[in-house]
Order: sequence, then C-alpha cells, then structure tokens
Amino acid sequence: MKWTLLPNNAAVSTEALILPFYEDAAAPKLPSPLQKEKALVDMIELVWHRKEFSGKAKQMMIIPLNHPTIHRLMLVGLGTTKDQNDRTLMQLIGSAFKAISSKPIDECTVLIPSSPKRNSVTLATLLGIAVHRALYHFKRYKSKDEKKEKDEKEHHVSEVKLLGLETRERTAWERTLREIETIAPLLTQQRDWGNIPSNECTPDFMAAQAKAMAKTNPRLTVTVMDKAEIKKSGMGALYGVGRGAGEHPRFIIMEYWGKGKSFKPFVFVGKGITFDTGGISLKPSEKMHEMKFDMLGAAAVLNATAAIAAMKLPVNIVALAPCTENVPGGESYKPGDVLKAYNGKTMEILNTDAEGRVILADALSWAHQYTPSAVVDLATLTGAALVVLGNEGTPIVSNAPAVATMVKKAAALTNDRVLELPLWDEFKEAIKSEVADVKNITDGFGGSVITAAAFLEFFVRPLPWVHLDIAGTGWYTQPKAWTVAGATDIGVHLLVEVAKQWKPVKKV
Ligand code: BES
Ligand code: MN
Ligand code: ZN
Repeated sequence: MKWTLLPNNAAVSTEALILPFYEDAAAPKLPSPLQKEKALVDMIELVWHRKEFSGKAKQMMIIPLNHPTIHRLMLVGLGTTKDQNDRTLMQLIGSAFKAISSKPIDECTVLIPSSPKRNSVTLATLLGIAVHRALYHFKRYKSKDEKKEKDEKEHHVSEVKLLGLETRERTAWERTLREIETIAPLLTQQRDWGNIPSNECTPDFMAAQAKAMAKTNPRLTVTVMDKAEIKKSGMGALYGVGRGAGEHPRFIIMEYWGKGKSFKPFVFVGKGITFDTGGISLKPSEKMHEMKFDMLGAAAVLNATAAIAAMKLPVNIVALAPCTENVPGGESYKPGDVLKAYNGKTMEILNTDAEGRVILADALSWAHQYTPSAVVDLATLTGAALVVLGNEGTPIVSNAPAVATMVKKAAALTNDRVLELPLWDEFKEAIKSEVADVKNITDGFGGSVITAAAFLEFFVRPLPWVHLDIAGTGWYTQPKAWTVAGATDIGVHLLVEVAKQWKPVKKV
C-alpha cells in the first residue's frame, strides 16, 4: 500500500473522499479547502438535515459528485464520541474500505477522524491494519476468465491518501505505517495459508514456505524434520498422529536470534494440523471442510516470527510448528493406543480427534532444550473455544501470571480480545490416566478449553507458558462488514506486539 500523508489544508484530488463523522457532532465538517465550495457544503447540510445520514455507527453513504477533482464522497458514521473504542473504530474504517473495494477505483483519500484520546501510533496502527484486512481477497483458485470477472468486481485500492495530519504527527505516522507495511505481507500470508485447502497446504507445503521465508530473510533459520527424523528423535506423539497420513508429517523449527545467543529466547508453538478429519474417531461430515484451518496456530507462529525478523526487533524467538494431517487409515493411531512424547511421558489416546494436544505435547517438550524465558502456544484446539466466545475473543490459559499479563497487554494494543480461564487443580487431576501418565480426553468432565490446556501444561511445566485457543478467532464462516469470510490473520500482529513488550533476559 502506498500511503501519502497530507496536511489539513492540502488540495484534494481523489477518486473517493472518505469522510468519517461522529453522530454527536453539530454537523459534518468538510476538509478546510473544501469549506469554500458552496455546492459541496450545501449538499452535506442537506443530507444531514434530511437525516439521510446521521453519523450512526455502521452508516455509510456513497455520493457520486460532478466535481473537477473529487469523483465521489463517502460518508462514514462513527457513532457517538462516548461509545468509541479502538476495536469498533477499526471495524468501521475496515467496513468503509471493504465497501470502496467493490468500486472501480484504485486510490482514495481519508480525512483522519479527530480522536483526542488516541495518540498517532495507536490511530495509525489501527487504520493501517484495518485497511489491509478490508482489502484482502483470495482468488488463488479462480481460473483465468473467472478471475478476470472477479477482478472487475473487486478493484484494488493501491494508494491511500491521509488528510488532516498535523506537522508534529507526521513522523509517528510515517514510522508506524512503514512498520505496518513490513508486517502486512505476513498478515496476508497467514490468511492465504489458512484458506489454501489441505490438498495444497500440506505439512510439506508449510515446511517449503518456511524455508522460502528463510531464503529471503537471512536473519531467519529454518530446520525441517521429516517423518523418519521425527520418529528417530523420540517425538512419538507427533509421529503417532502423522503415521497414518498420506501427506507425511513435518516438524518445523524457525529461529530468529535478534538479541544474540547470550539471551534466552521466547518459544512460540503452533498447532499445524493441515486437515483434521478426527482420524479413527471420525468427525461428522457437516462443516468438516473447515478443518483445513486447523493449521492456523502453526502458520501464526511462523508468520509472526518472520514479521519480527523483518522488523529486526531486539529479541530471540524460536517458533516450533508440528505439522501433520489427522486422517483414518490402516496405519493411523487408534483409541486406546499409548504414545510416548519427546520428554518420555506417556499419554493414553481415548479419542483420536483430540489430536492437537497430542502433537503439541511433543513440541512443548522440545521447547525445554532452549531454556526459554517463556512459551506461548497458539492452537485451534477445541470446539469449546467457539462455544465460549464465538468469533469475538480468544480464551487463554496460563501457568504464569506475569506472562499472561504481558499477552493481555499486547492484545489490548492490537485490539485482539483475550479472556483468561483458570487452570484449577481439578482440571490437572481430570487428565490423569489409569494406564499412562495422562489421557487425551476427559469424558463428561466439561470445561474442555481448560482440560485441553491442562494436558498441554503437563508437558510444558515448569516453563512459564500461555496458551491461546484460537478455534473461534482463526476464521469466519460468514463474511464480516470489514473483511471477507475465511481465515483471519489471528496471532500474527499479537505475537509481534508480545515480542515488543517482552524484555529479554540473560541466560545464566
Ligand atoms: N481442531 C479441532 C477443534 C475445533 C473443532 C476447532 C471445531 C474449531 C471448530 C480439535 O482437534 C478437536 O477435534 N477437538 C475436539 C476435542 C474433543 C474430541 C475432546 C473438540 O473440541 O470437539
Ligand atoms: Mn480434532
Ligand atoms: Zn484439530
């Protein structure tokens, strides 16, 4: 995206001028150079006084103009000033850009909404991210003619002019938008990997993509373990889930040592099930196609690490992505099987559909060798996460209040919503097995976001750790006003912010 910053008194020449207005403003105000143009002023007054447009949140109006330099006006309602929050503002800006993207235009101008309580960085970040999210599209599988038709319907804005910036705000806006442009391709890639179906987005595809990222950025190193190496290493849990799959499993390790090896790294772990049929404990077929998204945790940790490296943040990150399909077959793992994880602990498999925690057990065990200062995992782990918070927030579970607090702080800055659920001892008890050390489901116990987390904690302890269950926030089944349906960019910006918040500590 090309961003052009313009002062309040700049002459406006644009295909679409986006004017956001508060509902409780006296009347919409045009940018100062346009206030002399009587026809425009009258037209806005008419619209306002006839209550065609009142500034209510979600209200939008596009007015074609017969004007020498402005082809259309777009009025965007922001609601009342007191109901404002960053998340809704982001969605409203996004909705305006999504609406604009169906018009045949490739450039537009936005009047920066006055927001006395926000600093430039906050406003620039939420606007920059909202615009990228709104303009995201996925046309990878449209054949030539169909793609052309879609392109004609969905134009792509490639330049946004921002109007109304004070001179003293400029540098902060420029710096922030440059940062957004650095991470934007990875936000897009996160969504693409999620949307690419499992016949293309296989464990090997993920590994090849990770390697390709390391090629273009020498600050990243990527190591990939194949099926035989996974087995040999002692990762019996990942091997167990991957054994029956036609597409062979991979264990991807991406490292970024931006602070130098004398400092402890942060370990990010992501669930990479490229398709989850449930395995022998087969899922019902309704909605099963959505299980192509079951690799979003792995995608998020890889894309976030690449973003952190691209930004050259002074931190150390090790991203671990266990990737495999979960499918039924003659060699698949079965209910009743006992698997041994990398750390030697054993697990009784009572349901092969609770496979995410199984592969994560190996990755979390593997994490110990880096003596990390903390571990954060992202996983589309339980349908229950969707039951608790829908698409609207991410349940988190932690064994370390300080790390949980840091994630909450980061989430507040990226306008992600997280809600911590308690890891009470009863949940840790509930996963104990008669046969092995732990079991992968707790029949009838309930609270399955937490029982799943308790299983993970058994393998990550005593390391300080936070788990994010992104099963509800990873993708949208229905389009939203501010973005298309399909994978979201969950976790990427959030982990970048975590890396910014985190103070590296020396190894002892
Ligand atoms: N990938 C699913 C979780 C999921 C289901 C995410 C539906 C989003 C929508 C996970 O592997 C799974 O199957 N979990 C089971 C666990 C159960 C068998 C204990 C679940 O949550 O139902
Ligand atoms: Mn499953
Ligand atoms: Zn799964």
